[in-house]
Amino acid sequence: MVETLSQAIAAALLTADPRAKAMRTRALVRDWRAGRLVFAFDTPMPDAPARPEKPELLPPNRMPKRGRGGSDRARVALWHALAHIEFVAIDLALDMAGRFGAQMGESFVSDFLGVAADEAMHFALIERHLAGMGAAYGDLPAHGGLWEAAEKTAHDVAARLAIVPMVLEARGLDVTPATLERVRAAGDARGARILQRILDDEIRHVRFGATHFADVATQQGESVDSLWISLVQQHFRGAVKPPFNDSARQAAGLSLKACHALASMVKPRLGESHETAGGSDQLQ
Ligand SMILES: [Fe+2]
Ligand SMILES: [Fe+2]
Repeated sequence: MVETLSQAIAAALLTADPRAKAMRTRALVRDWRAGRLVFAFDTPMPDAPARPEKPELLPPNRMPKRGRGGSDRARVALWHALAHIEFVAIDLALDMAGRFGAQMGESFVSDFLGVAADEAMHFALIERHLAGMGAAYGDLPAHGGLWEAAEKTAHDVAARLAIVPMVLEARGLDVTPATLERVRAAGDARGARILQRILDDEIRHVRFGATHFADVATQQGESVDSLWISLVQQHFRGAVKPPFNDSARQAAGLSLKACHALASMVKPRLGESHETAGGSDQLQ
């Protein structure tokens, strides 16, 4: 029996083991590209993806401090946090394609399954890098809040695009160059190459988000910038804050005017800081 797209995506979301999820995701994207999956949505997406027993997920404000020093411990903590971000990014891209694909069409699905394959590759590269340090994904606790954005925007593709690629992945564009420089300065050339590849791919991910968001806004007869600003205000409780990587954001098709407008809007604190080590409002 030929599998449908939604069956294959739901199965990958419900795979808990990190390596198995990454492999399954890459296999499903190969199957989609080779025409082996039917464009049909007969299976609902799970409310939440399956998670492995480890890492332990902690609220952002309970994450241990990662430190900035060049110690082995700090290095492992950095790469572990990045591995977790990529692991959740696989699920976010799969859910985007599986939840909204019927409504948005085949090119949307192809774009976001391509993102899922990239995230699976990023995860695999980082996991190998961690292994070179004698560590593995799951050794440390990880940020438990990264799926929250998906839950809050499960009802509306415009809201999902406005937050996940256009705020969270865009934040990755801002912070990755400085991380890359620190990694390079510490003599980790391989790590620097991995981060450069991630940065290049993430510009494309944000661009997919911005492009499909602009299409949705236009169909709704709304201004792209004002719809983005209003959806971020409604559904994102963190702050969109500078300094921005203007050139990367521009290359990704984001409106700098809207980015700066969002940054100037002061958010009320809702009792939980996203400014903690081990993950902030960043996704990549
Ligand atoms: Fe990524
Ligand atoms: Fe990404």
